[in-house]
Amino acid sequence: MNSEKNPKNFGHIKSFVSHRAHMTPSQRDAFERLMPVWGLPYQDHTLDLEATFKRQAPTILEIGFGMGETTLKIAQARPEDNFLGVEVFPSGVGALLKRIEEHQVENIRIIQHDAVEVLRDMILPATLAGVHIYFPDPWPKKRHHKRRLIQPPFVQLLASRLAPGGYIHCATDWENYAEQMLEVLSQSPLLTNQHDGFAPRPDYRPQTKFETRGLRLGHGVWDLIFTRNQHPNPDTLILEK
Ligand SMILES: C[S@@+](CC[C@H](N)C(=O)[O-])C[C@H]1O[C@@H](n2cnc3c(N)ncnc32)[C@H](O)[C@@H]1O
Repeated sequence: MNSEKNPKNFGHIKSFVSHRAHMTPSQRDAFERLMPVWGLPYQDHTLDLEATFKRQAPTILEIGFGMGETTLKIAQARPEDNFLGVEVFPSGVGALLKRIEEHQVENIRIIQHDAVEVLRDMILPATLAGVHIYFPDPWPKKRHHKRRLIQPPFVQLLASRLAPGGYIHCATDWENYAEQMLEVLSQSPLLTNQHDGFAPRPDYRPQTKFETRGLRLGHGVWDLIFTRNQHPNPDTLILEK
C-alpha cells in the first residue's frame, strides 16, 4: 500500500525516496548470499526477538544505517547487546552484510524496509532497550520538512516501543533539524531528556560517514539522548496497529 495514503501510518509521509537499486557486484553477492542468514523479511506481525537473536539480550534498533560502518563498530564494541538495523537502501544493506561476514559479528540482524512500518508492525510495545537514529535525511527545503522522520506521531510510536528506561539517541548536522528534534522529543509525555538540551557525543558513537561529510561542509553536530519514563500514562501508549 502507498504509505502516503495509509491512515495507520501515524501521519507519516515517506522519509525516503526509492532509488533504482544500484549495487556493486560485491554488494549484490553479499546481499544474495547473506540476506538469508542475517536478514529478516518484513512481516505484518510481531517479531520474537529472543528467537531472532537466539539469546535473551537488550535489543537496540537502528534506523537508516546507511553503509553500516557505524552499526558494525557499535555492535563490536557492545557484544552483550543485539542490534537490529533497518535500512531501505539496497547497496547499504549489501555493504553491512559484507562487513558482518568480514568481521564475523553475530549480534546484528537486518530488515530492509521502511522503519515506520517495522516499528508499527514487528516490534512489541515496551520491548526495545534503545533506538539509534544517526544523521537521518535532513530534507532541508521547507516544503520537504514533512518528510523528516522525527515528527510527533512517529516519536510517539517510537517511545511506545521502548522498554521503560530505554533510550532514543539521535544525531544530526542540520541545526534546524536539531532544534526540531529537541522540541519534538521534549514534548513527548513518555520521554525525559538525559541532558540539559543537547547531549555530548557518547563514547560508543563513532563519527559516521554522513557526519564526516557534514563536518567537511562546516556543519555543527548535535546529539540528543532521551529515555522512556518508568511509569508512563497508559493512555499515551500506542498498543494497536
Ligand atoms: C543521511 S543517511 C545517514 C546514514 C548513516 N546513519 C550515517 O550517519 O552515515 C540516512 C539513511 O536513512 C535511510 N532511511 C530514511 N528513511 C528511512 C526509513 N523510513 N526506514 C529505513 N531507512 C530509512 C536512508 O535510506 C539513508 O540511508
